[in-house]
Amino acid sequence: MSLSRRDLMKLGVVGGAALALPLERTVRAGSSTQSRLASSRLPRPFTLPFRVPPVLQPSRVDSTTDYYKVYMKPVMADVVPGLKTPLWGYNGSVPGPTVKVAQGRRTVMRQVNNLPATHPLLRYTPWTSVHLHGSPSAPEYDGYASDITNPGQYKDYVYPNTPTARTLWYHDHGLHHTAENVLMGLAAQYHLTDPLEQSLPIPHGEFDVPLVVSDAMFATDGQLYFDNHDESGMFGDVVLVNGVPWPVMKVKRRRYRFRLLNASISRSYQWSLDSGDPFVVIATDGGLMPAPQRVRSFRQGMAERYEVVVDFSRYPVGRRVVLGNSSPKNNIDYDNTNKVMAFDVVGDDFDPADNAVPDQLNPTNPVMALTAADAVRTRKLDLVRKNSQWTINGHTWDDVVRSRFALVEANPAEGDVEVWEIRNSSGGWFHPVHIHLVDFRVLDRNGAAPMAHELGPKDVVYVGENETVRVVMRFEGRGKYMIHCHNLVHEDHDMMSQFEVVAGESTDPMSDPCRSLPEDGEL
Ligand code: C2O
Ligand code: CU
Ligand code: CU
Repeated sequence: MSLSRRDLMKLGVVGGAALALPLERTVRAGSSTQSRLASSRLPRPFTLPFRVPPVLQPSRVDSTTDYYKVYMKPVMADVVPGLKTPLWGYNGSVPGPTVKVAQGRRTVMRQVNNLPATHPLLRYTPWTSVHLHGSPSAPEYDGYASDITNPGQYKDYVYPNTPTARTLWYHDHGLHHTAENVLMGLAAQYHLTDPLEQSLPIPHGEFDVPLVVSDAMFATDGQLYFDNHDESGMFGDVVLVNGVPWPVMKVKRRRYRFRLLNASISRSYQWSLDSGDPFVVIATDGGLMPAPQRVRSFRQGMAERYEVVVDFSRYPVGRRVVLGNSSPKNNIDYDNTNKVMAFDVVGDDFDPADNAVPDQLNPTNPVMALTAADAVRTRKLDLVRKNSQWTINGHTWDDVVRSRFALVEANPAEGDVEVWEIRNSSGGWFHPVHIHLVDFRVLDRNGAAPMAHELGPKDVVYVGENETVRVVMRFEGRGKYMIHCHNLVHEDHDMMSQFEVVAGESTDPMSDPCRSLPEDGEL
């Protein structure tokens, strides 16, 4: 195992001798905005069938808890027809299997790192840390970047599933290599239901469909091509939905609910339907909105989740509707990144239940009742490029490590409501900012009302070019949690810091280390 100076530094083990080691090269020489594969070898949009990731089955269930075993392992995948692509999947599936759980049932997920000792191309050690994004997990189960599990080790993560129904996702958060690990395939959805969500007549079951959107570039040998454009972002010329390039889905003449997750490393999307018809947004990161919002177009940054309902009863059988992307600025676009997938309307026979969107969804979510006047203080987070690093208030995760994890940007007491004013004073980049642990409400953007699709509980907010966004939240929980940009290249280099909710005794995020294989003990 060879660690770069930077890796050692992040692990806090840097010494005089290690400083002399050369910097690891994680990117191939050259940076290009050209496709690597000739256009004749690239998949043609709307030629491959849509599919839904498998649902993860528990290995054991008892009166309170569902137990799952997940093995992170290599898989040789057929993504581009005619080529083989080495990927890494949770249980060998890319994207990983969807977890479905009811509010109040605990889950324990054993995450086994069966990845190779080094990445086949980039030569780094693929340590992992699994984050369940959207869950107020205890610090030691939150996927803290420095709480790593090396190949040959495993860790059991415990999730309370106490919040409201929502679309969560689990993905890798391993120190310094999150972007590469997620691009290799370590990402999946996780659906939490509750009695309110179940009782609404919105689409459920087969009409409630996960859409994990990502992008990738492929080299001529089929391998993923890694180019982080001088640590600014990784962009692909191929857009994938649930791991399939530009798929076509057959739909019936009724309403469907799509759980849209932007799992791209660096790409944001501006959605529209080529029919010109609206999306009805019913849920945001933290679950159901107070009321549905009809929008013809909306933007979605990395890690944001939006549940949208589309009504295909407006179209005749035989009609094709295309989900398009008009691409927010500062993305790198290619010939076909302006389209994502297509829906072919095929029939009329369907179960007529749950085919509506009521005018009220969750009008009483306390997060959405918070106002600036509830806050005991306002804090500022400045997103800045400094000494060729991405920083938050001038800090990087290296600074956090060097402080022996003492450095925090904020230290609210448990129960405090705070306003955070997040500022991106650059015109050159956008930063989707994620605050772990909490759900927040977006108060305003550059002093104006949030966009219609953001009028629900959130945990990631798009902080666009020259934007200042204010969010309000109540801190419940205790301990240290990360704050970072969800452009995973920015996160790795090194736009990540933390806050601490101060409450009696709190657990150290590194207090439950992984164990070495073979697995011992029942799960
Ligand atoms: Cu989705 Cu800290 O991550
Ligand atoms: Cu998170
Ligand atoms: Cu960023």
